[in-house]
Amino acid sequence: MDAASFVIHFHVILILLICCNLTMAANDSSSGGPTNFSTAILIRVDQSGHGDFKKIQDAIDAVPSNNTELYFIWVKPGTYREKVVVPADKPFITLSGTEASNTIITSNEGGDITDSPTLTVLASDFVARYLTIQNLFGTSGKAVALKVKGDRAAFYGCRIQSYQDTLLDDAGRHYYSNCYIEGAVDFIFGNAASLYERCHIHSVEAGAITAQGRESPLENTGFTFLGCKITGTGGNTALGRPWGSYSRVVFAYTLMSNIIQPEGWNDWGDSTKQSTAYYGEYKCYGPGANRSKRVGWSRSLSNEDAAQFVTKNMIGGRSWLRPAPTRFKGSSSTNIVTPTGEN
Ligand SMILES: *[C@@H]1O[C@H](CO)[C@@H](O)[C@H](O)[C@H]1NC(C)=O
Ligand SMILES: *[C@@H]1O[C@H](CO)[C@@H](O)[C@H](O)[C@H]1NC(C)=O
Ligand SMILES: *[C@@H]1O[C@H](CO)[C@@H](O)[C@H](O)[C@H]1NC(C)=O
Ligand SMILES: *[C@@H]1O[C@H](CO)[C@@H](O)[C@H](O)[C@H]1NC(C)=O
Repeated sequence: MDAASFVIHFHVILILLICCNLTMAANDSSSGGPTNFSTAILIRVDQSGHGDFKKIQDAIDAVPSNNTELYFIWVKPGTYREKVVVPADKPFITLSGTEASNTIITSNEGGDITDSPTLTVLASDFVARYLTIQNLFGTSGKAVALKVKGDRAAFYGCRIQSYQDTLLDDAGRHYYSNCYIEGAVDFIFGNAASLYERCHIHSVEAGAITAQGRESPLENTGFTFLGCKITGTGGNTALGRPWGSYSRVVFAYTLMSNIIQPEGWNDWGDSTKQSTAYYGEYKCYGPGANRSKRVGWSRSLSNEDAAQFVTKNMIGGRSWLRPAPTRFKGSSSTNIVTPTGEN
């Protein structure tokens, strides 16, 4: 290699390095966001008037557009009768109760999956903790309690309750840990890439737990249930049916009660979807997990098949899951319950 070609090679390498760095920076959740995730700006919501706001939406409205700091909205116990939207231009918000049993966001609107959600999350890098999010519309139609459309959203210890279409797990990568999710018809649906870990899934009537919406084999979406528990009343519940042709759902290490129908999965009246949907089970147990009468197009996963689903890789690894902040600005009170090991 002579001197001239060395210089050319050197420049090519330099350009490659710069380009790669730019691409990576563009996808890096911290670019333009908080530099220190241990410190957050605190906003308190308290119905009795002792906080900064009485309504949750007012606290979210107070976060500046395109915020680059972490916001921790601490919701005091109470039943908040409001519909809440976290808009796309407000990333890095944590919405936290202290216990899901006493901090409740509730509404009762039905009919449409776009307008009905009690809580709609359009922003990225959102966290909810210890909240009940419910839609009390009842049994006469679609009524979403929670819609999640932002990338990198995590839910810890939340209770999500409705009847039909409870959780619209719409788009992006999401993590649900120790959550309770209740419904009857297609009550966990959408086209996100999500990991549900140690969650309690409760079916209140015959129906289907999931309706995952993956449309093409190129999409990296799907739902994994890892170490979960399925209970219910009523029976004849399917693990899933394909909303999208390439619907992808895996249950691993999950306890299934006898409410799960022996066939397990349902093609939603379209047999062409039997060859495109990917429905797997791995090391599940309990009376509903007996695969002897399962539909032939569902899969009992080998260790090798299961490997890609039983870690956080499908949601982008651990890179964006953040521990709860430990320091707060903007309020004299820092007496917040922040359990460790949340992620
Ligand atoms: C960044 O995101 C774009 C579009 O989502 C994707 O094509 C690209 O491969 C990503 N780059 C890295 C380094 O992850
Ligand atoms: C974040 O900020 C806190 C308080 O200002 C400080 O103690 C801590 O060392 C910072 N952490 C990092 C990683 O910079
Ligand atoms: C926030 O960012 C978006 C996209 O860059 C921009 O269109 C919008 O005007 C910004 N909002 C404010 C208040 O700066
Ligand atoms: C599964 O079900 C079949 C048929 O209903 C039954 O013969 C078998 O014993 C069951 N297996 C277990 C492990 O319960």
